[in-house]
Amino acid sequence: MADDTKPEETPGPKIVPPTGEATKAAAASAPPTAAAHAAAKPAAPRPPAAPVPDLAGRTTSVASPGGAAAAAKPAPAAAKSTTRDADDSSPLLNRRAWMGLAWGAFSAASAAALAATGRFMFPNVLNEPPQQFKAGFPNEYGQGVDERWKEKFGIWIVRIADENVEPHGSGFYALFTICTHLGCTPNFLSAENKFKCPCHGSGYRTTGVNFEGPAPRPLERAKIGLSDDGQILVDKSRKFQYELGQWTDPDAFLKA
Ligand code: FES
Repeated sequence: MADDTKPEETPGPKIVPPTGEATKAAAASAPPTAAAHAAAKPAAPRPPAAPVPDLAGRTTSVASPGGAAAAAKPAPAAAKSTTRDADDSSPLLNRRAWMGLAWGAFSAASAAALAATGRFMFPNVLNEPPQQFKAGFPNEYGQGVDERWKEKFGIWIVRIADENVEPHGSGFYALFTICTHLGCTPNFLSAENKFKCPCHGSGYRTTGVNFEGPAPRPLERAKIGLSDDGQILVDKSRKFQYELGQWTDPDAFLKA
């Protein structure tokens, strides 16, 4: 027969929640942890902050007035771009270089304009030979064409003794050394006793009358006379044209 009697339970240890004083006592008796070590350890000194340049170029630090603000606030990118490194060889010019370039170009243009204005104030002066000139005494001339005044005055003086050629008889006349075709200067060919233009081949007799080539009319004559001292006086300001019947004018021929 089963014994249904239950063994008598023995009471176990009773768990009592710790009170505040008990907790303090336990903490005091427990070994110190790593966190406690860290809290108890004094903080190591922090290294000083690096100096930070402000916009005016002054260096500040956290310790200096305004340094904290400068350290906290980064410098604008525009302030950094105003300076260039010493080894920066890029072709880009900064604003000051562009201004200098513009002023240089403006100054050069102004100087050129001033020089042109000054040049305009002093026009070219043509030193043309005088229209009148004394050509020496009549007895200094032989028969025929005299070329001594060709280069300086553009005149041939011709002495003629054939009264059948000139209506005035023997004497002198002055011929312009200008071809009536297009204005070249003919040459006197003594061997052929004629004037020959090198440009298009016009030929003139010693009287000035054209006889070959494209010249449309005879050479022109200039006024000729005697000055007060007896020298031959030529005046280029008065011209006489054969085709207009002006060679018969007394001023177009000097009788001698
Ligand atoms: S310019 Fe003298 S012939 Fe033409």
